[in-house]
Amino acid sequence: MPVANLNGTEIHWRDAGSGSSAVVLLHAFPLHSGMWTRQIAALERKHRVIALDYRGLGKSGTPPEASTLDLLAGDVRALLAHLRVGRAAVAGLSMGGYLAFELYRQAPGLFRGIALCDTKAGADDEVGKANREKFARTALEKGLGWVADEMVPKLLRPGADAAVVKEVRHLILDGTPAGVAAAQRGMAKRQDSIPTLATIACPALVVVGAEDGMTPPAEARKIADGVKGAKLVTIPDAGHLANVENPAAFDAALTAFVDGLPA
Ligand code: MLT
Repeated sequence: MPVANLNGTEIHWRDAGSGSSAVVLLHAFPLHSGMWTRQIAALERKHRVIALDYRGLGKSGTPPEASTLDLLAGDVRALLAHLRVGRAAVAGLSMGGYLAFELYRQAPGLFRGIALCDTKAGADDEVGKANREKFARTALEKGLGWVADEMVPKLLRPGADAAVVKEVRHLILDGTPAGVAAAQRGMAKRQDSIPTLATIACPALVVVGAEDGMTPPAEARKIADGVKGAKLVTIPDAGHLANVENPAAFDAALTAFVDGLPA
């Protein structure tokens, strides 16, 4: 994976395909760009696909402060400037969706299109913020095995395929407790993106796993209702990580959207 020092942090990313149109993939918590392997393979036939590991997750460096969405969006912008990519289709799943909203606020002109997958627009309430702080402290105390035990049942549907469970556990175990804590503390500080919905002026796709318990179909419906012209696709036989649990249906929806974007 290529690496560069961006905004004072070592950022690693995957860069595949050579098309003139770029697609940026923003991953979920507490995973890394490796969760997009199948989507990269599907998209790279026609597009250049860029998927970074956020600071603190995957291979990227972990600065001491909270990984706020503001900082992460700054990292994405710095990476795209480094790669001389001026416009892109941006797809974010869950935390990646929170990041896509922030990136849109910072750089709407970057977006050829936006795909908001298994995510929600609202911010955390006080209980949600307190739960994230508790999670951060426990992750630091008990380590990544505990993080994987906590998260895997939430990320996948009940009775998920054993190979998928193993794959997602591995993606989580690639992180560091400090990076996981920094991401939770950053997400707790994120702003409400509900007012952002009506400002989104590029083509938009909303995707949700039919059995997503973390950001259920009702959240996807709220996003689709709030973004003018957004198309909503529900992925059968999939929970929160719809791209990992049903890649065939997910990739069909994402590639059709990206391929159909005006140049
Ligand atoms: C994710 O899947 O990215 C996160 O679990 C979302 C969250 O914690 O709000």
